[in-house]
Amino acid sequence: MLFMPWSEQLEVGIAEIDQQHRWLVDTTNTLHRLLSSQEACADQLGDILEQLMDYTMNHFIVEEELFQRLGYPESAAHKAQHNLFCERVMGLLTRHDMGETVGLDALTLLKDWLTNHIIKVDKKYVEHFRAQGIAI
Ligand code: FEO
Repeated sequence: MLFMPWSEQLEVGIAEIDQQHRWLVDTTNTLHRLLSSQEACADQLGDILEQLMDYTMNHFIVEEELFQRLGYPESAAHKAQHNLFCERVMGLLTRHDMGETVGLDALTLLKDWLTNHIIKVDKKYVEHFRAQGIAI
């Protein structure tokens, strides 16, 4: 059974964003599988953290460009959460590179992000985007 199955709750109705969110759900499940196995190794965790940094750069740019284009009024608070998430991933990567074991902290961060940011905070822009004719 998957740690975090994809569900309608996570959908925002914009194909590019949903695709990127699905990547994050898949990565969370990959991390959970890795930590549950006997074969977890530091290199694999490092790869996941590196991929997460790329994800945050690419995904947040997509959302933030839409905020700007569509005049989303809660953009500043939303961007502040994105920046905090980037700082946390960077912090985990730094600790990992210094030899710390950060797998469980990374899993906790991702689970919290999926359930509190995507389901609650990202979902808030859907109504605004829909009013602008973007979301279905
Ligand atoms: Fe999908 Fe605001 O991150």
